[in-house]
Amino acid sequence: MKIGVIGAGEMGSGIAQVVSQAGHNVVLTDLNQDVLKSSASKLEKIMARLVEKGRITQDNSTAIQGRIQRSTDLKTQSDCSLVIEAVVENMDVKKAVFNELETIVSDESILASNTSSLSITSIAKNCRISDRVIGLHFFNPAPLMPLVEIIPALQTKEVITDKLIKLMIDWGKSPVLAKDTPGFIVNRVARPFYSESLRILEEGLADVDTIDSAMRDKGFRMGPFELMDLIGHDVNYAVTESVFKSFYYDPRYKPSLTQLKLVEANWLGKKSGRGFYKYINDGTRNFYSIGSNKDIQYSIAERVIAMLINEAADAVFWDIASAEDIDTAMTKGVNYPKGLLKWADEWGASKVINIIDSLSQHYGDSRYRVSPILREMARSGEKFYG
Ligand code: NAI
Repeated sequence: MKIGVIGAGEMGSGIAQVVSQAGHNVVLTDLNQDVLKSSASKLEKIMARLVEKGRITQDNSTAIQGRIQRSTDLKTQSDCSLVIEAVVENMDVKKAVFNELETIVSDESILASNTSSLSITSIAKNCRISDRVIGLHFFNPAPLMPLVEIIPALQTKEVITDKLIKLMIDWGKSPVLAKDTPGFIVNRVARPFYSESLRILEEGLADVDTIDSAMRDKGFRMGPFELMDLIGHDVNYAVTESVFKSFYYDPRYKPSLTQLKLVEANWLGKKSGRGFYKYINDGTRNFYSIGSNKDIQYSIAERVIAMLINEAADAVFWDIASAEDIDTAMTKGVNYPKGLLKWADEWGASKVINIIDSLSQHYGDSRYRVSPILREMARSGEKFYG
């Protein structure tokens, strides 16, 4: 099976590596020859490191690199039975790419998009054969993160969804099925990690350092502010804004003015040397820490986790995905220490309800709404698992 990848940026390059490592021939295309060249040299370095560490043999490395053909001409993908699009996040650009692609590939070829925020149903609608279009959302870095969200459009044939679930398992990935809704699973369920932490900061309840360490103490690899600094505030703010708009301005997803200011100042995080933290050289960072208070840390972390659990529970309520898939998504796509619904079972629905109800009473803000599914569970004693 020959597979095409369109766009040789951060994601396309990673996806091409995944596909080649799975043993397929890959045709990687990009408009820009320089991007293709740097994608090839980046892969060469990655492979050399893997050989050095003894993870793969020199022969493997040569074979993996040899299976990837690179071109600026989309026509080179004519005999691909699956094409994964990973060009810039812009609907007009994606539509144009799919339109051109459909004049090149066979009618049987499956067309997938790696979009993080655009409607798969809209992309499909614009295609001549809509029922072969699907969302295949990898996580960065694609070769390391096992999660792949599979998002059928309204029009997608079931057999295509089934085929891709099997294929992702063959590639050693952990596929989950998500409804074509804003943010799919991860980018929806993860919003409170950032937004609730930003609220706590904005209110002056704790500083950046304290909130980050409180969340790390709960097992998160990175605190919300260091993670936003790493993702880039431009990117993180844009995702929040897009989810907010797509949910008809539901206050639960409201972006933060504090983060907007960072974007306006071009303090985008690690990549620009300054975000919530200041980065000195590479890796080290500095922050005006005002110490930390363990009592505050405890309640801060529980407040953020309660909002995360509520968001995950609500995604089950709205049938976005199964409880198992939501837990897989958050642990395998963004390294959460535990599935949020498993966490809900451990805490019990009443604990989440008490935290959120007290926030609602305090603030009178409709972002603090308990999901009906949690209230039902508190009444019936049912759990997400067993
Ligand atoms: P990027 O900016 O690194 O790469 C995009 C590439 O597409 C560029 O090399 C550009 O030259 C190329 N391109 C633009 N128009 C093209 C066209 N018409 N034909 C061929 N190539 C074209 O972007 P990145 O970060 O790799 O994102 C790509 C897609 O993946 C976006 O839809 C993004 O939302 C999605 N995504 C990004 C993630 C991330 O963490 N960066 C994670 C998951 C999904």
